[in-house]
Parts: sequence; structure tokens; C-alpha cells
Amino acid sequence: MKYFNFPQSKLSTSRLIYGCMRIVGDNSSADRKKGKLALHTAIEAGYTHFDHADIYGGGECESLFGEMLGELLTSDPSIGDKLVITSKAGIRGAGFPENDFTQRYDFSKQYIIESVEGSLKRLNIDYLDLFLLHRPDYLMNAEEVAQAFNELNASGKVKYFGVSNFKPTQVSLLQAACDMPLLVNQVEINIHNIDPLENGTLDQCQQLGITPIAWCPLGGVVYPAWGNTFSIEDELRIDVELSQQANKYNVEPWQLILAWLLKHPAHICPIIGSTTPERIIAAKQALAINYSREDWYRLLEVRNGQALP
Ligand SMILES: NC(=O)c1ccc[n+]([C@@H]2O[C@H](COP(=O)([O-])OP(=O)(O)OC[C@H]3O[C@@H](n4cnc5c(N)ncnc54)[C@H](OP(=O)(O)O)[C@@H]3O)[C@@H](O)[C@H]2O)c1
Repeated sequence: MKYFNFPQSKLSTSRLIYGCMRIVGDNSSADRKKGKLALHTAIEAGYTHFDHADIYGGGECESLFGEMLGELLTSDPSIGDKLVITSKAGIRGAGFPENDFTQRYDFSKQYIIESVEGSLKRLNIDYLDLFLLHRPDYLMNAEEVAQAFNELNASGKVKYFGVSNFKPTQVSLLQAACDMPLLVNQVEINIHNIDPLENGTLDQCQQLGITPIAWCPLGGVVYPAWGNTFSIEDELRIDVELSQQANKYNVEPWQLILAWLLKHPAHICPIIGSTTPERIIAAKQALAINYSREDWYRLLEVRNGQALP
């Protein structure tokens, strides 16, 4: 595993983050057991950073992690200090608190603080290393969010803050209101969805020392990315190029796509969401690929289906 420090902080992270969105599966005892094994595998493989959200598995993903942490604490009382635990909030599902309420985003101070407190309880910890706003709230009042962040920080419940799925203008708006630096912007980046390369997200990250974290990094390789419009011919063309490059570097196509993300100078940290122990371990091979600029651009060109201007 490789490690690096988030700029603007004292927080050190494994370059690959383990994503906990799928760890309870369908919440059966077999799936929960599999999820726990995945967490143990990730820790043993050197992942120190675990990504959560209050809504994953309806809260069950955080609870399962808290259960695992409680068990580990008996044999290693300092385990909590060795891990970076991130959680997110701000998405309110339909039906809460009233049956007829619709899905919405909520960055009100009260909701943010209550959400963090709920996550801490489920995760079985006293503080979050990193708290992210999950999706931009169109009704965001930046000053109110800053007040929530200040209170959470002053009460020791959150060390650092960041955002997810924010556009650069939304990051700028919030950062201007906050005393504390926004450490990360967690966005979808994969071979289908390269918006962050083109809409200024990665430029802003590089300029301000914000770390981009890539969710669904394997979208377009092992499953279609969200809202993708790629035709079967597009997919085939990308598959062929990926397979050829994977052969050249002696890795699997999905490992190569991680290397494609890792190559970017903004220091993208991909989140690995597999619950298969072999894949959690094998993802680390991507860190050792010496990926060339030429191949990086060739893959982009094949993905675009046309030569660069
Ligand atoms: N901020 C946001 O809005 C947001 C949104 C979505 C996700 N996230 C975060 O990002 C994390 C990662 O997302 P993700 O789970 O979609 O990431 P991912 O790592 O791109 O995808 C994992 C999925 O792909 C499958 N997979 C992996 N390698 C495979 C292979 N070689 N062949 C076939 N299937 C393979 C896994 O199956 P197996 O489990 O069977 O290996 C799993 O279902 C989440 O856990 C969550 O923490 C954030």
C-alpha cells in the first residue's frame, strides 16, 4: 500500500480507500459475514481509510463497521487511531420523517449535526476524521453550513471536512464561508464519466490542495457508469484497448483503469468497493504500474472515439 498526507492537514491516508457502501449486501447474515471479512481483509492489506455514508444500507453499513471495530479494539486498543474514518450526510430519503416526504438534500445546521451524531453512534467512535456533504443541496446556505462545521469541530466530533459531488463553483462558495479548509471533493470518475477532467473539478483540486476521491472507479469496466450513454460499439472499442494495455502491463483491465486514475497529478484516491478479498488485495497492484503518458492518452482517445484536436 502507498500512503500520503492530505494537503492542508495532518491526516495521512492510504492511497486506495476502502468503500463500505456494499458491505452488508442484502443484510442477510451471510452477506454481513462476507462484509466483515472484506473489512478485515482491507485492514490487513494496509487500507487505513474507510469511506461511509449515513444512508449506506440504511445505516447498517456503519453499524457493521462499528461492530467490527468493537471486536478489534479488544485485541488492539489503538486500532481507532490507526484508521481514517470518513462519513457523509445530507441526503434525506423519501418517507422520513413523514410518509409523504420526498427525497431531498438538507444542509441545515440541525440536520448536519444530528446526522454526524447518528453516524458516530453507529460507527462506535467518538469522532469522524473526515465528514463530507454527500450531494450539493440547492438550498445550501454556506454560512449556516460553516456554523455547523465550527460546532462539530469545537465539540471534537469531526476533525476535518470536505464535500462530495460538488461543482467547482459550489466548492468556492462553501470554502469562502468556512474557516477550515475543505480537504476533499469525492466525485465519480471512471472511463465513462470524465466530467471532473473537463469541468474544472480536478483543476481546482490541484490549485487549492483539495484531494479528489474517485467513487465507482470501475464504472464502465466491470459495470456501466451512472447515466452513461455509451453504445455497444463504444464499449467494445474501449474493452479491446483496455485488454491490450492490460496485457502490455501484465495486469487485469480493472487494475489498469485504477492506474489511469492514479496517474493524474491532482493525486486522485480511488475508492475500492469490492467485497471480494482477492480483489481488495489485488487492487494494490495498480499502485505499482508505471503507466505511460502515451498509453494514458491512447485510452482517452479510444474512449472518446476520435482523435484529440
Ligand atoms: N459520494 C458518492 O456519491 C458515492 C456514490 C457511490 C459510491 N461511493 C463510494 O465509493 C465506493 C466505491 O464505489 P463502488 O462500490 O461502486 O466501486 P467499485 O470498486 O468501482 O465497484 C465495486 C463493484 O464492482 C464489482 N467488481 C469489482 N471488481 C470486479 C471485477 N474484476 N469483475 C467483476 N466485478 C467486479 C464488485 O463486486 P464484488 O464485491 O463481487 O467484488 C462491486 O460490486 C463505495 O463503497 C462508496 O464508499 C460514493
